[in-house]
Amino acid sequence: MSLEAATQQSVPKDGQPSMIRLEGIVKRYAIGDGVVAALNGVDLVIDRGEFVSIMGSSGSGKSTLMQILGALDVATEGSYELEGYDITRLPDAELARIRNQHFGFVFQAYNLFPELTALENVEVPLVYARIAARVRREQARAYLEAVGLGDRMGHYPMQLSGGQQQRVAIARAMVTEPTVLLADEPTGNLSKEGGDEILSLFDQLHEQGASVVLVTHDPRVGAFAQRCVKLSDGQVISDDWVQQRTILEIA
Ligand SMILES: Nc1ncnc2c1ncn2[C@@H]1O[C@H](COP(=O)(O)OP(=O)(O)OP(=O)(O)O)[C@@H](O)[C@H]1O
Ligand SMILES: [Mg+2]
Repeated sequence: MSLEAATQQSVPKDGQPSMIRLEGIVKRYAIGDGVVAALNGVDLVIDRGEFVSIMGSSGSGKSTLMQILGALDVATEGSYELEGYDITRLPDAELARIRNQHFGFVFQAYNLFPELTALENVEVPLVYARIAARVRREQARAYLEAVGLGDRMGHYPMQLSGGQQQRVAIARAMVTEPTVLLADEPTGNLSKEGGDEILSLFDQLHEQGASVVLVTHDPRVGAFAQRCVKLSDGQVISDDWVQQRTILEIA
């Protein structure tokens, strides 16, 4: 069954399903003889167009939650509905297709291919999506221009600053036009100014309709989102609208 058909089936009568609905998510890892619960019963709903930050101390389960949100990993217990379609336990190939269609990922360490140019890096997800070479190149170029790197397309990652590498990673995450951008500590390796440039890009993407979920340790970055979810020991301990949103110092 296609995702579209399945979505039609499970649309509640009172309207559209939530974009993301996690219920009772538990994630356990076996370590030696023991078991670690990285997530311990997480309920979370994220709707279209939201800008959410996820905060919590080291080891609280933020990255694990992002991996499950982005269908990079599956939960041990609980359910995950995406657009009303139960994706909790799909085979790997299906999950890969959903990832490619719905999610863009940005990581703290940029994760670019060192042997590919900026332009080629941005083209990678389009190769997986089987887009023709010429179209691919054009789209990658447009996204690099959108992140302000029109003059750096032929540079290799090591010839770019950290902030520029992260902008390449954002262009790569967005080039497939995902509905949700998932970013795990995207500003963690950057200066305040470099980080603010990245936040300002997220803001633009959000204005254009993308949903953004951002993991951060930095309360200033967390308060740049509209809503902040706090984790502790694998559980959601608060989920609030941000009262005073951070204003960036760059204009
Ligand atoms: N692959 C794994 N195998 C075993 N345990 C894991 C694995 N991944 C995470 N954990 C454990 O699960 C818990 C949550 O890890 P997670 O990476 O989600 O934390 P985090 O909130 O992202 O922390 P940080 O802020 O340091 O990145 C930790 O106790 C961690 O040791
Ligand atoms: Mg983490």
